[in-house]
Amino acid sequence: MSQIELNLGRRFARLATDAVVRRPWLWRLFRPLTRLQFDRMAPRWTAMRSADAFASLEAALDSLPQPPGRALDLGTGTGLAAFAVARHFPDAEVVGADLSEAMVAQAQADTPPELAGRVRFQAADAAQLPFEEGAFELVVLANMIPFFDELERVVSPGGHVVFMFSAGPETPIWVPPERLRKELESRGFSDFADFEAGVGTSLLARKGDGN
Ligand SMILES: C[S@@+](CC[C@H](N)C(=O)[O-])C[C@H]1O[C@@H](n2cnc3c(N)ncnc32)[C@H](O)[C@@H]1O
Repeated sequence: MSQIELNLGRRFARLATDAVVRRPWLWRLFRPLTRLQFDRMAPRWTAMRSADAFASLEAALDSLPQPPGRALDLGTGTGLAAFAVARHFPDAEVVGADLSEAMVAQAQADTPPELAGRVRFQAADAAQLPFEEGAFELVVLANMIPFFDELERVVSPGGHVVFMFSAGPETPIWVPPERLRKELESRGFSDFADFEAGVGTSLLARKGDGN
C-alpha cells in the first residue's frame, strides 16, 4: 500500500465520518469502500499504531467507578483496544466487533493466549449490531465512526462509553467533542469526563439508569 493510497484513505475516512455523523443514512454509500479500505490495511494495521496510541483510553478506564462485566470494543480493528480493556479488567468478558472480516481474522490470530478465554472477535456493523439491548456495561470506540442510536441501545443502564482518538483532532476518524456530547446528552448520557495523554484524547460518558 503506497503513501498516496494511505493519505487518500485518511481523507476518505474523515469525509465518511463527517458525513455519517450528520446523516447516518449515508452509511450505506460509504460502507463498501470503508470495508475494502480496512480489509486492505488489516495485515499492517498493528504495525502502524504508535506505542502510546491507547494511553488516553487507559486514563479513561482508570476512572471507571467499577469494573465492567461485559465490554464491547466497536470497530476493534486488530483488537488492540479490546486487549487493553481485557488486561485492565481481569474479570471482564470482552467482545471486539468489526465490519472488516480481514481485521477480525487478524485480531483472532493476534489474541494472546492468556486472553483467549475472555476475548472474542466477530464481524458486525456498528450501524446494526447483533447484540441484545443493554448487553454491555462498557462500550469503547477507538478511532471509530459512531452510530449513536445503536450505541445507546447496547449500553446497559448506568453503563459507560469511551470515545478515543489516538491523535486527537488529527485522527482521520475524529468527531468534535461538542458533537459527541450533544448526541450523547440527547440520548440520556451524562457525567462526561475528558482525558488527554500525549496527542491522544478520550471522552467518557455514563448512560442514565432510568432513576
Ligand atoms: C481507524 S480503524 C480503528 C481500529 C482500532 N479501533 C484501533 O484504534 O486500532 C477503524 C475500524 O473500524 C471499523 N469500522 C468502520 N466502520 C464500522 C462499522 N460501521 N461497524 C464496525 N466496524 C467498523 C473498520 O473496519 C476499522 O477496522
